[in-house]
Amino acid sequence: MKKGQLTLAIESSCDDTAAAVLHGLEVKSNVRHSQLEHSAFGGVVPEIASRKHGQLISAVVNQALIDAQVDKTDLTAIAVTQGPGLLGSLLVGHSFAKSMALALNLPLINVHHMKAHILAHFLVEDGVQPRSSISFPFLCLTVSGGHSQIVRVDDWNDFTILGETLDDAVGEAFDKAAKLLSLPYPGGPEIDALAQQGKARFEFATVKMPGLDMSFSGLKTSFIQVMQRHQQLHPNTLIDDLPDWCASIQKALISPLIQRTTMAMKQEGLHDIAIAGGVAANSHLRSSLTDVAKHSGWTLHLPPLSYTSDNAAMVGAAAHFALQHDQIDHVSSSAKARMPIDA
Ligand code: KG4
Ligand code: ZN
Repeated sequence: MKKGQLTLAIESSCDDTAAAVLHGLEVKSNVRHSQLEHSAFGGVVPEIASRKHGQLISAVVNQALIDAQVDKTDLTAIAVTQGPGLLGSLLVGHSFAKSMALALNLPLINVHHMKAHILAHFLVEDGVQPRSSISFPFLCLTVSGGHSQIVRVDDWNDFTILGETLDDAVGEAFDKAAKLLSLPYPGGPEIDALAQQGKARFEFATVKMPGLDMSFSGLKTSFIQVMQRHQQLHPNTLIDDLPDWCASIQKALISPLIQRTTMAMKQEGLHDIAIAGGVAANSHLRSSLTDVAKHSGWTLHLPPLSYTSDNAAMVGAAAHFALQHDQIDHVSSSAKARMPIDA
């Protein structure tokens, strides 16, 4: 393969072991191993996650090189998620990336996980024209298992949080609600799929938050109360009416996101809006925002489903911008569980 900027990107912040090879912003390979071991526990078990990353990382990286038809000696940079995330998980990918950078004498690029989710909008598929016309500035609703933020993105490294959840992340709320319904982890995709055949007929108490901030933990309490009340009259309701419960819970969790995002777009006077993170795969969020954007005259950027959940291509996208601005990191840097997006 012709030399150019050829980056190996590694992601291991939670329960996905992932590696990708990128030529600039063009994705040459994107390999992801989702750890299914956590499903039985109803959530990610940090100790299991880091152990699995350790077992999988070399095979996943190797596969990314094979899929891209690239030899490791062709690489020109190593990018890796530095944080935020589970420290034990991050350390596996980060140590592996540092070792590769040292062994191959290549620059190391540390990437912020949530910035990577957002910058995935700039990825280009192998040999295909850019699929998104996105450009700075834009507003991004970043929604995952650990974050729910409304972010103003002015440049590749200029992020301002306009609003965020003050307690649970919306993905976490989906997962907790799924547990109440005895659905497996991760619960978001399960609720989304079942909601397609249901009617949002159950009402929950909404929590009014000031400004653009949000809260999801109160909704969980309301889910429990409404379920218990209904179970007194219909003991089997959680089984018999499962799709209706899913549609109702989904609506309750997505509505505040749409409402706050709309407020933020008006406040900032922006024209472009994007969504990012695992919950950006949610069909109700995608269709509701499509309607609002059409009505409001905004350009909406929906990421392909392959780039919503954790992946390494997005890490390569963020690294591309860093490399263009000569922002290289040192191999003595370490992984960080907490990293603000607006620092
Ligand atoms: O970004 P991500 O893969 O990992 C984190 O960085 O957290 O997001 C995972 C979260 C989980 O909470 C999962 O339930 C949620 O994204 N999720 C969804 C959907 N697909 C994944 N939530 C709602 N609807 C979906 N279709
Ligand atoms: Zn993520």
